[in-house]
Amino acid sequence: MTDGLRKGLASYGDAGFSLFLRKAFIKAMGYSDDALDRPIVGITNTYSDYNPCHGNVPQILEAVKRGVMLSGAMPFVFPTISIAESFSHPTSMYVRNLMAMDTEEMIRAQPMDAVVVIGGCDKTLPAQIMAAVSADLPTVVIPVGPMVVGHHKGEVLGACTDCRRLWGKYRAGEIDDVEIEAVNGRLAPSVGTCMVMGTASTMACITEALGLSLPMSATIPAPHAERFRSAEASGRVAAAMAKAKGPKPSEFLTASSFRNAQVVLQAIGGSTNGLIHLTAIQHRTRHKVDLDAFDKLGREVPVLVDLKPSGDHYMEHFHHAGGVPKLMKQLGDLIDLDAKTITGATLREVVAQAEEVPGQDAIRGKTNPIKPEGALAILYGNLAPRGAVIKHSAASPKLLQHTGRAVVFESVEDMTNRVDDPDLDVNADDVLVLRNAGPKGAPGMPEAGYLPIPKKLARGGVKDMVRISDARMSGTAFGTIVLHITPESAVGGPLALVKNGDMIRLDVDKRRIELLVDEAELKKRFAAQAPAKTPDWAKRGYAWLFNETILQADEGCDFDFMRENGKG
Ligand code: FES
Repeated sequence: MTDGLRKGLASYGDAGFSLFLRKAFIKAMGYSDDALDRPIVGITNTYSDYNPCHGNVPQILEAVKRGVMLSGAMPFVFPTISIAESFSHPTSMYVRNLMAMDTEEMIRAQPMDAVVVIGGCDKTLPAQIMAAVSADLPTVVIPVGPMVVGHHKGEVLGACTDCRRLWGKYRAGEIDDVEIEAVNGRLAPSVGTCMVMGTASTMACITEALGLSLPMSATIPAPHAERFRSAEASGRVAAAMAKAKGPKPSEFLTASSFRNAQVVLQAIGGSTNGLIHLTAIQHRTRHKVDLDAFDKLGREVPVLVDLKPSGDHYMEHFHHAGGVPKLMKQLGDLIDLDAKTITGATLREVVAQAEEVPGQDAIRGKTNPIKPEGALAILYGNLAPRGAVIKHSAASPKLLQHTGRAVVFESVEDMTNRVDDPDLDVNADDVLVLRNAGPKGAPGMPEAGYLPIPKKLARGGVKDMVRISDARMSGTAFGTIVLHITPESAVGGPLALVKNGDMIRLDVDKRRIELLVDEAELKKRFAAQAPAKTPDWAKRGYAWLFNETILQADEGCDFDFMRENGKG
């Protein structure tokens, strides 16, 4: 027997003794033999005082345990790393792969027949799904759910699109110290994840489209009673999966499932980070990502969900309008409805249950889209030989074809120190360039790609400029911003060769990003570069592992040895 408590015995050279010892110790918790003979559902606990987005995890845990026990299985809660965006130094991305490794190995190390992973803040669902597809145990994913909206002076507020918008107003002198403090207390009025279409919401929607979570689970607000009923139902499903020994992620995640996830990513106006995470997840399976195919989808799939930052509404409105099932229904033949989900049902059955909500305007139809094309485009050119990404659904249309003079910042620190310098030589038509902010360069690819508009321009009314970098950007941000330039400058990518005053041309329609400097000059600059050496921060420990093995954005920034076939 290799299930339940008998699974994965600790090795003492005598299997009978190993089980005897395990049972002797676990009985210290007061369990009966009947309880210990049941199929086991492991449940990750990512509650942390540092992670307000996961503030409802204790209640979710109780509901999942209830569902598991009502179905005759035994729940075992275990802790894993928890990552909160604003409490992760240097960046949350730096520790995403650590969480994925932690989660995967604890799923493998401990006896369980199925696992429920509970996450939500940006890097947690990606890390947990990366772990789940690698461990390949029957898995149910439960997003913690979005916050409810805030209000300020009659206006609806959402973290963190409105954090950035109002901070921009404060920087421009349009609102004062007293008002910005009042706003600070109103942006996040409940536990849960950011309630715009940022990375957390994007990943929750992608998870539902992949069939890894129950219908509607992406959008139910974090504090709502429905969230906990859905968690109880998830516990029941996990118990059934534990008994049936399936389906495992490898049994129902097909090329079509991943294509569906990409379609949904485009149609929701999803976060650019979503592409990196989905790429990392796919590279842990046999279904690899084709960025050109993703870009092609972007030309075919309209943005249908009217959420900030691409549109006007918030996650709770998306939920009340019918959520991801309704969106997939509206997408029609762009979705492969034969794809399966954890319950064994197809997406066709999920979509058939989608609620019709009269008068709702958060989920549009294909004939009346928010944007006729998808949210994200992949750019190539001499600045980005392996690609870059732009969320053009959240950009200024007039800047999508633009040529301007480069104003270069060497690092995030350099940008922080100089961007507001009154003597900075910059005007509204320039292109702000940030380098050494990629996976290795910063390290951890900070969300610094949303370079602030220099204060002197912001005060003059400039709201957007073309900004390019090898960094990431929060999915909640708005602007004409080219990100994930690959390869990054710290590993010798062409972004390292840009000089102040060079001309840069962006043409989103043609999917091009070009440095208008001739080839011979670029070769000269490349030859003059200092050879790369191991930076001081990467001399030991996890930092060393990170620096040695992190992949570039086009491969999902996973560690090279964590892909499906390992390093080979
Ligand atoms: Fe946790 Fe936005 S900070 S989801």
